[in-house]
Amino acid sequence: MNLESFDESGNAIIFGSSGGIGQALVSELKKSNHFNDVIGFSRGVGFDLEREESIQKSISSIEKQNDIRLAIDATGFLHSKYQLPEKNLKNLSSKNLIYSFIVNAIGPSLIMKHLFPILPRSGKCVFVTLSARVGSIGDNHSGGWYAYRSSKAALNQLVKTAALELARTHPNGICVAIHPGTVSTSLSEPFTNKNWPTVSPEEASNNILNVIKTLKVSHNGGFFDWSGKEIPW
Ligand SMILES: NC(=O)c1ccc[n+]([C@@H]2O[C@H](COP(=O)([O-])OP(=O)(O)OC[C@H]3O[C@@H](n4cnc5c(N)ncnc54)[C@H](OP(=O)(O)O)[C@@H]3O)[C@@H](O)[C@H]2O)c1
Repeated sequence: MNLESFDESGNAIIFGSSGGIGQALVSELKKSNHFNDVIGFSRGVGFDLEREESIQKSISSIEKQNDIRLAIDATGFLHSKYQLPEKNLKNLSSKNLIYSFIVNAIGPSLIMKHLFPILPRSGKCVFVTLSARVGSIGDNHSGGWYAYRSSKAALNQLVKTAALELARTHPNGICVAIHPGTVSTSLSEPFTNKNWPTVSPEEASNNILNVIKTLKVSHNGGFFDWSGKEIPW
């Protein structure tokens, strides 16, 4: 992977480094040898989106390393044994909606809150959060999955708003949302079948990094798919 558009001395961070796509991103970035260090955060090392102080603590632990050139938020939640995507309004529960919003929208916004102030102010510097095409309101043709869809739509708005603010202090900063495609991980596993093509986490991470390496300031605040194509809000 050629990541020449980034300064060579910098560091990269993956939030959600224990996930299917997160693990593949860490390994691909390490293989690229482009960054001094590739730092992974996950619940296993005390990074929990449900606790702002853990987000703050994780980010302040890397502040002195400075020169964060690339940060990817690969966290996210779709289902658990307690919560399944809703087929219809009858299935809605405030508890489940709140949980999806905490993990998919509020947590990532708190990452941006604590991370952006320590990003370098010159040279290419990118923050990516993994969103989902189903978070697009314009592209919603099939309904269902209320909590996941609406929390990813909220994430998209938070990304767009934070991108506008980032541009004021970091003229070379880029903050975008990327849909990784349907990827064979535990998140998608119950909902995929042979009629629904998936890509491996390794292929997805390559696709994501291929989009990231071509991002320019003019892309700041955008929502893109795994091939770099813009997705309607
Ligand atoms: N897979 C797909 O087909 C697909 C499609 C569209 C979009 N996406 C998006 O891509 C991203 C990555 O998905 P994935 O397929 O790699 O899912 P995954 O394998 O389930 O990984 C999810 C990651 O999120 C972390 N996470 C969940 N709750 C957390 C919390 N409270 N605090 C900190 N970390 C938390 C998990 O950590 P633990 O290991 O601690 O649980 C894990 O690292 C998600 O945003 C997802 O919505 C995936």
